[in-house]
Order: sequence, then C-alpha cells, then structure tokens
Amino acid sequence: MTLSARETAWARIHSLAQRPGAGSIRALFDADPERFRRFHRRACGILLDLSKTSIDDEVLAGLLELARAARVTERRDAMAAGQIINQTERRAVLHMALRAPRSAGFRAALPEGGYEDAGASVEETLERMRQFTHAIHTGDIRGATGETFTDVINIGIGGSDLGPFMVGRALWTVRSPMRPLYLANADAHNWEAIRPRLNPHRTLMLVASKTFTTAETMANARVVRGWLERNLGEAGARRHMVALSTNTEATTAFGIAPERVFGFHDWVGGRFSLWSAIGLSIALSCGWDEFAQLLAGARSMDEHFLSAPPEENLPLLLALITAWHVNGLGLKAHAILPYDHRLSRFPAHLQQLEMESLGKRVTLSGEPVRHETGPVIFGEPGTNAQHSFMQLLHQGTTPVPADFVLVANPNHPYADNHRLLLANGLAQAEALLRGRTAPEVTEEMRRAGTPEEEIARLLPHRLFPGDRPSTTLLLERLDAYTLGQLVALYEHKVFCLGALWDIDAFDQWGVELGKQLAKSILPELEPAGRVGSHDPSTAGLIGRIRAMQGNPD
Ligand code: F6P
Repeated sequence: MTLSARETAWARIHSLAQRPGAGSIRALFDADPERFRRFHRRACGILLDLSKTSIDDEVLAGLLELARAARVTERRDAMAAGQIINQTERRAVLHMALRAPRSAGFRAALPEGGYEDAGASVEETLERMRQFTHAIHTGDIRGATGETFTDVINIGIGGSDLGPFMVGRALWTVRSPMRPLYLANADAHNWEAIRPRLNPHRTLMLVASKTFTTAETMANARVVRGWLERNLGEAGARRHMVALSTNTEATTAFGIAPERVFGFHDWVGGRFSLWSAIGLSIALSCGWDEFAQLLAGARSMDEHFLSAPPEENLPLLLALITAWHVNGLGLKAHAILPYDHRLSRFPAHLQQLEMESLGKRVTLSGEPVRHETGPVIFGEPGTNAQHSFMQLLHQGTTPVPADFVLVANPNHPYADNHRLLLANGLAQAEALLRGRTAPEVTEEMRRAGTPEEEIARLLPHRLFPGDRPSTTLLLERLDAYTLGQLVALYEHKVFCLGALWDIDAFDQWGVELGKQLAKSILPELEPAGRVGSHDPSTAGLIGRIRAMQGNPD
C-alpha cells in the first residue's frame, strides 16, 4: 500500500519520536551551546523560545514537512478567502475580518452560493459600537432616572463570557471608564454575589449570546431584567438593556430595542468572538482606544500568520510543538502558565478555545482520526500555580508540556515584586529542564549536615527527573496591542492543529447532548414532576434530590 504524503510525514514523526533519547532536552543543550539562538523566533514583539523542548533540526524539518503534507498554508488561505471551512456547520470562519480594515477585502462564502462583503458589516458595527461607547461615557446616553452609567454587566457564557472577561481582567484599571462585571454561571449564587455591588440606576446590562437561546444566559438575563424592572419599571429597564447577538428576532422578543442590538455573523465562532460585538463590554469598561488597540494587535498577528514563512511562523511553530508532544511523545495534557496576574483568565479562555476546537474524534470526512487530537488544557497564573499543581509537572509520572508567558516590564512601580515574579517563572522552566540528580541532592544534604541514613531515606523523594518540556513566550510589556497579538497567536495555533489533524476545529457538537438531556431532566425536578427514564444512577440521584427538596418521588 502506498502511503499518502500526510501519512508518510506522520510516520516520520513517529519514527523520530522512537529514536533512543528522543525526549532528552538536556542532551541537546549539551551538544549545542547555540541551541537557544537557533530555536527561538521573534515576531510581532513576541519572543517564542522552543529550545526547552526536545526538537532538533531533524524533528523540526519533519514537523514542517508534516505541515506541508497537511496543506496547512493552503487551508489557511482558504480560511482567509472566506471559504466554507467549517464544513459540518457549513460556515466560513472569518474572525480575522473583525480586526481588519475594510480595505483588506474579506468576503464570506454563503452556503447557498456567492459571497458577502464581510468588511462592510464589520465596519458598520464597529462604528455603532464606538458611537454607543462614546455616548455612554460622555453621559449623552443615561439611565432611566437620568444618572450616568458607571457599571456594565456582561451576561453570557462560553465564548460570550470567557474572552471579554479575560481581556477585561487584563486591561481594566481603576482609571478605566466603567466597572465591568460578568455573569455566566446558571447558578444564581453568582448573581447573588454580584447584585449587592450594583446600583440599578447606574447599571447597563449586556446580554451577550450569539444564538440568544443559551439556557444559562437567558435564565440570568431574565433574572437581571426582573431586578431592573422592579427598580425602574418596565419601560425604564428597557433603557438599561443591550443585546450582542446574531438573533435579532429573539432580542426583539426579549424586549430589547433594535437600536440597542449589536450584531455579527455566523462566520464568527463563539470562542473567536471577543473581537466582535461580543467585545462591547471591553470597549465600555476599558475604553474605546483600548478595544481598538486590541483589534490592531490581533490584526498584526493575522498579517504575520498570513505571510511569514513556515519556519518563522509563530502560530504554526506553536502548533507543531504541540503535535510533537501529543503525537510524537504521547503527552496528553498541556499547562498554560502566564506569569502576569492580569492574564489570570487567559488559561480559562484557552481551555475553551483549544478544547472546544480540538476535542474531536473524527476527521473532516467523518472517519475516526488516526492520531490523538487535542490535549487537556489547564493553567493558573504564576506564581500561584507553583503552590498548587507544579509538583506534578516536576515529579509526576508523565511530563506535562507547559507554556510560560513572561512579561519583561510591568505596569506597576513594584520592581522587586516583578523581579521575584520573573525569577520564579524562569526558575520553573529551568527546573523542569534540569531536574536534580542524586549527587546534587546528596551534596546539598551533606552540606546541611543531614545524617547519611536520612539522606538515603529521602534521596528518591528529592530527585527530579528533568528533561520536561516547556515553551516560553516573552513579551516586552502587556498592553491592549500585545494582548491582541497574544490571543490571535493562540487562535491561529488552534487553526493549524485542526489542519494537521484534519478535523473541524470550528464546530462543537459534543456540547449538544448534555444540553438536550438537561432539557428533559428539568421538568423532573419540578415539585410536581416525576423521575423519568434514565440510567439507574441518574434516576437514583434525581429521586434523592427530589427527596432532599421535600418533593414526592
Ligand atoms: O455550548 C457551547 C457554546 O455554543 C459555545 O461554543 C459558545 O461560546 C457558548 O455556547 C455560548 O453560546 P451563545 O453565545 O450562543 O450564548
């Protein structure tokens, strides 16, 4: 049987990963003092250091060959040309159009044939968002009782929450124009925790939902609308309500005036939507200029992604390293460690971006995949992570590749703290690489005066294997522009992995079954409901919940 170019390239990766010592990084540094110079890249103000992974020239060449065989560049160009690359939902994928000037000429293919001018609607919506933001900030638009708006609550979930929340956390300061609050969880304890901090007369409510049918968002929107109505009356509440959605029928039915609806198109996926109308809370809370800079930064990464050669292309390289770890070395988890507290929601954003996009088990043509796909993504800001899960990364049985995001210059005056932060980030990556040998531990314990039998007893516990891979992304500073670059970098990384694995990285059918089952369970939890037909565990639990709530079985 002749193998396709793609299968040949995959076979090469697998055979490179089987070479003796394939995972050893220290040996590569020992053999090549120039390794850092040769395996880091700089573009868009981001330094990407790949040298603390086990790639060498041969592996990198093999990975680049894989990218060629998987036609990543051609697929990228098809995305940029607005073709229907989200095949299961029959949609174009054009989040890049959201941050491009109209002159970039983005067009979206329509399922019924022909194209629409993506840039025109983006330009129009951005201008409406800008004017609205300006009017709220100047007080030209005020609340029902004539007060200015000071707080904005974004009600949304998934991509309609995580992206805006992550950016708001990163860019908001006490000098910013409005205070942002985020309501996502269907658990009304979330609302109960927020409500006492809000004055209804000064609160603007954004219902952020692409579909405007998501159960959690609509439940929360009804609760907050009720709170506004109780305080301001029905007509007054309407003056505080805004919708960010593609579903104008549903926004009207909910009672939101058409001029208060900011739309976008179905070629914007939820997890890629923070650049669209879904980002209105960012503009309102952090300021229009910040939002514009965010878009400009993302655009600069788009231009890099669309034009840089593969061996210099940061998103592609980041994706290829993940493919090496997942498919070559069999490492199925990946940690995201931003050493900047402003990025504390970045791991949560990437969890959705990567796991919803890459958690797939069939190829575009519906065949079972032949290779592992998306790894488990988790993370925390450093240094907090060091005091929670880093133990497992250092001494657990399976290596977990980690991305360290370091920022050279902070936006605060506490230089000592910042040095401590950077020293820790660098030290964690160095420790993962270096490990700790028996002679090193023994020597240190002897110097501390530890008795020999105690050294022998503790030695195995104090050894670190080392050779654990990490990637470092170094930014000169974090601001709206560089944040835009960073987020777009990961979006394009996800695109490249989808192409390498030949999966649809833009659908999310896996979340549907749970939604459907929840709908059928809901009436069974009503006081007068009855336990329906389920597996015995689910039926048993529903029965116990009914009993605990004092309802008949
Ligand atoms: O359930 C998954 C999902 O569809 C995500 O992809 C999306 O970001 C989220 O729900 C929210 O969807 P919507 O914006 O339509 O409320």
